[in-house]
Amino acid sequence: MHVAVYSTRRYDREFLERANAAGRHRLDFLEARLEARTVPAAGAAEAVCAFVNDRLDAEVLGLLQARGVKLVVLRSAGFNHVDLAAAAALGLAVGRVPAYSPHAVAEHTVALVLALNRKIHKAYARVREGNFALDGLLGFDLVGRTLGVIGTGQIGTAFARIMAGFGCRLLAHAPVVEPACMALGARYVPLPELLAASDVVSLHCPLTPDTRHLIDADALAQMKRGAMLVNTSRGAVVDTPAVIRALKSGQLGSLGLDVYEEEGDLFFRDLSAEVLRDDVFARLLTFPNVVVTGHQGFFTGEALTAIAATTIDNLDCFVAEGRPRHAVSVERVV
Ligand code: NAI
Repeated sequence: MHVAVYSTRRYDREFLERANAAGRHRLDFLEARLEARTVPAAGAAEAVCAFVNDRLDAEVLGLLQARGVKLVVLRSAGFNHVDLAAAAALGLAVGRVPAYSPHAVAEHTVALVLALNRKIHKAYARVREGNFALDGLLGFDLVGRTLGVIGTGQIGTAFARIMAGFGCRLLAHAPVVEPACMALGARYVPLPELLAASDVVSLHCPLTPDTRHLIDADALAQMKRGAMLVNTSRGAVVDTPAVIRALKSGQLGSLGLDVYEEEGDLFFRDLSAEVLRDDVFARLLTFPNVVVTGHQGFFTGEALTAIAATTIDNLDCFVAEGRPRHAVSVERVV
């Protein structure tokens, strides 16, 4: 198939070219983010390959379909950025990568917890300045602490498994009970109970109408004073201005983010020579007890290899059977 690959970075190209070594597909790599303005760059492609911050709303899907695009393959598990109803109405198939490495994201979440707890970000800078004082670096033992996991699918369960190894007590909240998580000793409780009892709350649910701003001012007020919040799921699960108020008042003790509601204008690009225009994001960066990474949870060699292999498999399957192996539609997710 002829595929326009949007939001391409050097590493995407490297891993996709390796997965497509047999040359069954023609991959045109485009740096641009997919949006209405950049649709013409797809040229004569019959498929587009998109990432998490590409725009796949009704307008963009309509423009793609009008050019002859039949298939959208996502290089992500999450599909909250795709208007699936519009895709169905236009007869566009949508494929995704349901699982690549839950460990990559789970392990990155642990990195955020440890960095925040032991103030690694501050210690790193201090030691380089020749400042070996420990004031302000006080942490806590994780053993015996209560960890609240919201969303216990592949990533939440992998994270819970690692944290069980630290000796944490596990509380979980999800609409579906995961036996593997229960086997780790996790107790499923209603959200208010999880929020009130946890020293660390970690988000691993998808972004849906139900989870949008799940962590808002009300939820933050229910948390233990001084607790830690970590979000490696999707930015909009958290109400960022409410989180900033909770950090200012001390209600929230620390915050680790790998995702941000407005990350589409920021992440995956080098903006170091530019002025930061997002005042909410800029305020977040001023807190000593906040660590932000730019959506890198998935970023391991193993995960990129799996993402590229599944993407090529989705294309192969579409050519052979008229549908991607891992199709997402309004009715059904494979
Ligand atoms: P999954 O589908 O295996 O698990 C999702 C879990 O969330 C399930 O336990 C489900 O029951 C639960 N859930 C659904 N609605 C909920 C609600 N209203 N409240 C609480 N829990 C709810 O997904 P997986 O693979 O574990 O991924 C989780 C999320 O992590 C993805 O949706 C994606 O947004 C994010 N992600 C982030 C990455 C990163 O690089 N930071 C990379 C990959 C995924």
